[in-house]
Amino acid sequence: MTSSEKTPFHGGYAPVTEEITAFDLPVTGSLPESLSGRFLRNGPNPLDLEDPHPHLLVDNGMVHGVRIRDGKAEWYRNRWVRSDKIAAALGEEPRPGGINEAPNTHVIGHAGKTLALMEAGAPVVELTYELDTIGRGDFGGTLPGGLTAHSKIDQRTGELHAVAYDVTRHDRVQHVVVSAAGQVTRVTDIAVSDGPMMHDFALTGKYVVVYDLPVTFSMAAAEAGVRLPYAWNEAHRARVGLLPREGGGKGIRWFDIDPCWVFHTLNSYDDGDRVVIDVVAYDTLFVDARLGTGGPPALERWTIDLTAGALKRERLDDRPQEFPRIDERRSGLPHRYGYTAQTEEFLKRLSRDAQDLSDLPTPAFGAALLKHDFRTGSREEHLFPRGYFASEPVFVPGDPEADSAESAEDDGYVMTYVHNPDRDAADLVVLSAQDFAAGPVATVHLPGRVPLGFHGSFVPDAP
Ligand SMILES: [Fe+2]
Repeated sequence: MTSSEKTPFHGGYAPVTEEITAFDLPVTGSLPESLSGRFLRNGPNPLDLEDPHPHLLVDNGMVHGVRIRDGKAEWYRNRWVRSDKIAAALGEEPRPGGINEAPNTHVIGHAGKTLALMEAGAPVVELTYELDTIGRGDFGGTLPGGLTAHSKIDQRTGELHAVAYDVTRHDRVQHVVVSAAGQVTRVTDIAVSDGPMMHDFALTGKYVVVYDLPVTFSMAAAEAGVRLPYAWNEAHRARVGLLPREGGGKGIRWFDIDPCWVFHTLNSYDDGDRVVIDVVAYDTLFVDARLGTGGPPALERWTIDLTAGALKRERLDDRPQEFPRIDERRSGLPHRYGYTAQTEEFLKRLSRDAQDLSDLPTPAFGAALLKHDFRTGSREEHLFPRGYFASEPVFVPGDPEADSAESAEDDGYVMTYVHNPDRDAADLVVLSAQDFAAGPVATVHLPGRVPLGFHGSFVPDAP
C-alpha cells in the first residue's frame, strides 16, 4: 500500500500535481451556441499527501474550469485555491485578508465575483475570472465570519441565502442574506446546542429550512487532530427547523425526525399548509474514523404538515446517489425534475464497508447520472462505461433569457466532468436534459485529470 492509499486521495480522488492552462480544446459533437460562460468545479486536491490528518471534506481546494463561447471550448484551467500555506508552498506572497483554509467544496458566481466556498467557518475566497486567488472575500467587509458551501439564490430578488455554522461556536448557527449587489444585509442567529454540523439547508418562498441532525462537534475528534471534528451523537435530538424568512430567530418552529444525516437538498417548496423538502439522506454519518455513513444514501421526500405539527419521511428512490441538482430557476418553487449522480468511487468512500455496494441494483456500475421525474415517479439513466467516474450533474437552461415559467423545466443541458480511463484525463460532457439517455450533445476533451470532487456551477458571462 502506498502512502496515498492510506488516505481518501487515491483512485478517482488522486490529486493532480500541476496547474494547466490550455486553449482551444478539442470537442466531439457540437457545443450549444447558447452556452456562454465558465463551467467550474471545486474539490479537494492536497499538495502534500504526507499530511498526517488528510480529510476528504476539508483538504485544500482546487478549482477546475472550462470557458465556453460561440460553440468553442476556449480554455481549461485548474488552480489551487491559495490558502496562506499553499501560497507559501508555491513560493508566492499570501493573499490579502488572511486565508487560513482553502475552500474546497463549491464555486459559484455572485454579484460579478467568482467565489470558492466551504463550511464550518472557513473563509470565502474570491477568484479572478481565470481562477487565480485574489484574496479573502468578505462582501465589502459586511460578512462577520464564514459562510457555507451551499447557498441558495432567491429567484425573485437575486439574494443569496446561507445557513452558516462555525467549528468554534456551538450554541448558534446563522442565517445570512447577501444582496444581489454583494452586501450582507441580514444575519439572524438560530439557537442550537452541541454545535451541530450543517452542510446544506433549504429555502422555500416562506421558510429557511434548518437540518439540526445528530452530527455534532466532538472534542475527542478535535483533540485527536481530526480536521473536521464532528461525530455522530446519539444524545442530540434530531429535528428540522422552519425559520420564517422575515422575523427573528425566535420564530423558528422545530419538527422532530428520526436520527439521520443529510448532506444535500435537491429542492424544497411551500405547498399550502405543507412544506416539501427533497433530500439525499443517510442513516448515519461519522460513526467511526472514516465517513461512516452506515450504508449508501437514498433520495427521500420529507413533508412537514404545519397543521398537524409532524414531519413524514418517504423514500423516492433506493438507489445510492448523491449530488442532487435542479433547474435553479425552480429553486424554492415546485419542481418536476431533478438530477443526481451515481458513482462507485464516491459511494465507496462514503460507505463504512465497500461490500455494502455489492448488492445494490446498479447496472453497469462505472457511473451513471439519473434524471428523476417527480410527477410521474419515473427516472432515466445516462450510463457511462465501467472505469468512468462522473461528477455532479449541473443543469443549465437552454435559453438563458427565459424563466422556467415560459420554458419547459428540462429545456436545457446537464453538464458534468467525467473521468475517461482511456485517456486518463477528464471530459466535460454536455447532455441534452430532454434526451437524457442519449449520447452527449458535446464532449470537451481536457488535457488532464479532474479528480473526483464536490460541487460547481455554470457561471454565465455577463450579457
Ligand atoms: Fe456538498
